[in-house]
Amino acid sequence: MLSRRALLVTGGASILVLGGGYASLSAMSNIAPAREPWRQATRGFGDVRFNAAAYAILAPSPHNLQPWMIQMEGEDSLTLFCDLTRRLPETDPPDRQTTIGLGAFLELLRQAAAEQGHRLEITPFPDGEPGDRLDERPIAHVRFIEDDSTERDLLFGHALRRRTARLKFDPGRPVPSDRLAALMKISTARPGLDTIRVDGSSETGMVSWLKDICKRAWEIELRKPETCHESSYLTRIGAKQINANPDGIFLAGQMMEVYRMSGMLTQENMDTIGSPAWEATLSMYNGLIDSAPTFVWFSTPGNSRTEQLDSGAVWIRLQLAASAVGVGFQPLSQVLEEYSEMAGPFAEIHKRFGVSLPGRVQGLFRLGYAGGQGPAPRWPLESRIIT
Ligand SMILES: Cc1cc2nc3c(=O)[nH]c(=O)nc-3n(C[C@H](O)[C@H](O)[C@H](O)COP(=O)(O)O)c2cc1C
Repeated sequence: MLSRRALLVTGGASILVLGGGYASLSAMSNIAPAREPWRQATRGFGDVRFNAAAYAILAPSPHNLQPWMIQMEGEDSLTLFCDLTRRLPETDPPDRQTTIGLGAFLELLRQAAAEQGHRLEITPFPDGEPGDRLDERPIAHVRFIEDDSTERDLLFGHALRRRTARLKFDPGRPVPSDRLAALMKISTARPGLDTIRVDGSSETGMVSWLKDICKRAWEIELRKPETCHESSYLTRIGAKQINANPDGIFLAGQMMEVYRMSGMLTQENMDTIGSPAWEATLSMYNGLIDSAPTFVWFSTPGNSRTEQLDSGAVWIRLQLAASAVGVGFQPLSQVLEEYSEMAGPFAEIHKRFGVSLPGRVQGLFRLGYAGGQGPAPRWPLESRIIT
């Protein structure tokens, strides 16, 4: 408990006195090991498939669960599987968001391979599309074909700078409309993505309506014991937890170390509806939503598994394009989630966006301008390879 420890602030550097021992807070909060895969990606592994996969594991995924597992085959192929233990049964009952993450992985794999003069032949769901939930069958079979005429994707140049923004944006600085139009256009500018409709708005009425529905949805998610529990126990608080499990929702930095050591911030507290830690979680995310000057969303005509994979490609293309021009990007997925308590807001947003089922709004994002941020943790490539 913090009461048994003195917190000294000396010349700007915080030092915790722990039972007579000293530990600098900055050393204690170091999460460099969890970020190592971002450095490793540039290393080169002597095989185009590993080289490309080292970038693909940097793709976004729901709660950063990194559900991808890769099996290398022969000299030129790999099969992508979903690690079925890395899904979110409460917040993502049909595994739709998990599948989108796997689609983002495939798009980054494609871009990284193109960078090395290889074209990918991707066969989605070679043993058939899964039904209500993903299953053990492969997500995709991928063949790498050396081809000098393969066009490089300029978005790839931003792969190492892509971040999911967890900072407040300047609410008075919307993304200029010509820039927004360019971002939306580039997100589907790849063969196979032309049926996906991308929209966006900085118009005051639409933005305030979206903020309101996103905050309502967030509160529904946080007040439902099962969904709150799922996210609370996937939160890694402080460097020790983050480096041991480089996935989930990460809370890093010196203040987080202090909160964790004081017992103010624990998974149990976050999971206790109405507790100070729970209230802080609610208002922190509401603050992010409230700072949004611009929103973007996209929808598919149906909701097949292949459309979900394609949605992952549009998702990361949009995010890479935003990174390229210094625009911050954060998904706000709660209102799109498929459980009964969310049915009202889910129906409202689909109606407002003119999307009727089986069509689906697959992604909703706030965009804006904020400061920089470090990369999120990742499991190393070798842990994602099936041997
Ligand atoms: C399908 C999907 C849904 C997501 N939903 C949210 C969300 O609602 N809120 C949020 O802050 N991040 C969301 N994320 C972002 C992930 O949390 C993020 O990708 C992960 O933590 C890794 O961080 P990075 O994108 O900065 O590498 C989502 C990502 C995906 C692929």
